[in-house]
Amino acid sequence: MQQTKRFVLAIAMIGGVAFSASAIAAEGMYSKGTGNKANGENIFKNGKGNVPACTTCHGEDGTGNDAMGTPRISGQFFTFLFKQLEDYASDKRIDTTMGVMNDNAKGLTRQDRIDVATYLASLKPSFNGSDLEELKKSGVQVGVAYKGRALAEYGSPDRSDGYPKDLGSKGPGVPACKSCHGYAGRGAPPMYPMIGLQRYTYLVEQLKKWRDGSRTNDPMGQMRAVAKKLSDEDILNVAAYLTNASPYTLGNFRSPYDD
Ligand code: HEC
Ligand code: HEC
Repeated sequence: MQQTKRFVLAIAMIGGVAFSASAIAAEGMYSKGTGNKANGENIFKNGKGNVPACTTCHGEDGTGNDAMGTPRISGQFFTFLFKQLEDYASDKRIDTTMGVMNDNAKGLTRQDRIDVATYLASLKPSFNGSDLEELKKSGVQVGVAYKGRALAEYGSPDRSDGYPKDLGSKGPGVPACKSCHGYAGRGAPPMYPMIGLQRYTYLVEQLKKWRDGSRTNDPMGQMRAVAKKLSDEDILNVAAYLTNASPYTLGNFRSPYDD
């Protein structure tokens, strides 16, 4: 009962998205989606109508591609994936990278979006994040992971001295990413996505988008408020940590989200 109440409250907080009770029916701890996985798999691998196969940009296993700037979408939580697809379909989130995701989402029916999100959420790719050494070799600026880890776990206290100077921000510091996104960024469904083991390039780009206000689909402006406080260095550092962050605590080879 307590669980159900928390679930309903969290869903109610994700404003603006018309979730149908059947699509998000709570099954245990959190919704894994009740869409048609076979249809979702077909769309993922073969596309539908004018919508190309998701694999062409997100990879055969859905773990994304740094050179293309695409995110890992396999193994992400259903509620988050579905929300993003609804947000693209209604232009609440604009894909400023290649402008493709808005067309892709609109080219699918609502039921298709539920189906493909259900399928993606059910995948468990073996993926350890971006290869930072390879990215460095190809000239990509890579941050310092241990500094990013400190920010993710503890945040940064008072920044009323005006740091980061390049932003001239005032007021309280950066909250720990962990306070919303959970241990090692492994996520806290239904609202908070997994950001650990996400693509480096994608993490950097999204943090910059929240910061400059070109992505605005975060409930209650939560991510914009956080990102405003981040310097360029903070962004590179936290992304360098998160992309390779293990969701497991020492000596415990299960996360709360393992079946
Ligand atoms: C032509 C390339 C391309 C294709 C094809 C494509 N995507 Fe994407 N996708 C992207 C890019 C680029 C982004 C990041 C856009 C942005 O910054 O908003 C993205 C973002 C997403 C996101 C947001 C993920 C997150 O963590 O917020 C989801 C979900 C997604 N795509 C699902 C799909 C699905 C499902 C399909 C197949 C129906 C698909 N994509 C096909 C390029 C593509
Ligand atoms: C107050 C809660 C909160 C805190 C603290 C927070 N986030 Fe978030 N974050 C969110 C929410 C909510 C979303 C999902 C927004 C949406 O629905 O599109 C999000 C989304 C994101 C995304 C986009 C994920 C994707 O796949 O598109 C990234 C990247 C991210 N957060 C990084 C961070 C980092 C790094 C920190 C710490 C510096 C942080 N967040 C701290 C609430 C928070």
